[in-house]
Amino acid sequence: METVGNIPVHVSIIMDGNGRWAEERGLARTAGHVEGVESVRACTEAAVECGVKYLSLYAFSEENWGRPQAEVDTLMKLMFKSMIAEMPTFAENGIRFIVLGHRQRLSDELNAVIDDCMYRTKDNKNLTLVVFLSYSGRWDILQAAGKLAMELASHPGMAASIEELDTSCFDKYLVTAGIPDPDLIIRTSGEKRLSNYLLWQGAYSELVFSDILWPDFRKEEFREALRTYSKRDRRYGKVK
Ligand code: FPP
Repeated sequence: METVGNIPVHVSIIMDGNGRWAEERGLARTAGHVEGVESVRACTEAAVECGVKYLSLYAFSEENWGRPQAEVDTLMKLMFKSMIAEMPTFAENGIRFIVLGHRQRLSDELNAVIDDCMYRTKDNKNLTLVVFLSYSGRWDILQAAGKLAMELASHPGMAASIEELDTSCFDKYLVTAGIPDPDLIIRTSGEKRLSNYLLWQGAYSELVFSDILWPDFRKEEFREALRTYSKRDRRYGKVK
């Protein structure tokens, strides 16, 4: 197993820069997404090798539906093809595969492959690979608040007063229920913002920004981000 210091349990990545990678080469933006899938494979392998237990990827945001239809279609086809192609690799490497997000917006065909892939890999223990599709942090918080409101309305005794609610009460309504909060969020391509990603869950995540465009972000870049993380001093608002 690779040793890169103090290993985060959950690493999350905002994969950015596919379009710029393609444009720099005079290619269509979609060529960057195709190459980006190779980086997904490389980082997944590196995560297993380093002993990371959860790797999550921001693959398609709620806002990404606003891109040109041809790009949206290419991305959805790429997800579909990649899931079918990678299923044997997930089985061989003990990878549990999960998709989280506003799944009602995805096609029936894509949802069927996702369900199949999630079912077939549900008992795998080495790494949980979470792909966020049609996800945004504000949407997640809103849908969780809606579920909590419904629950409180149907069980008025559940919270005698609003003060009894604590953050763990809320966690279980988020789509990430049961998944530990990310210890480390990496964003590639030099952009330094969260772009509506894991707004609740990332409250105490360490942030690492890399100038490398996602299609060039491979195993060594992943390990380098882990090394940077291992030098951080996490205090969660307390003193040591
Ligand atoms: C951001 O780059 C990237 C995306 C919106 C898509 C990322 C998706 C993949 C790499 C496919 C993943 C596949 C699986 C199976 C998880 P951008 O297009 O915003 O780049 P730009 O900022 O340079 O324009």
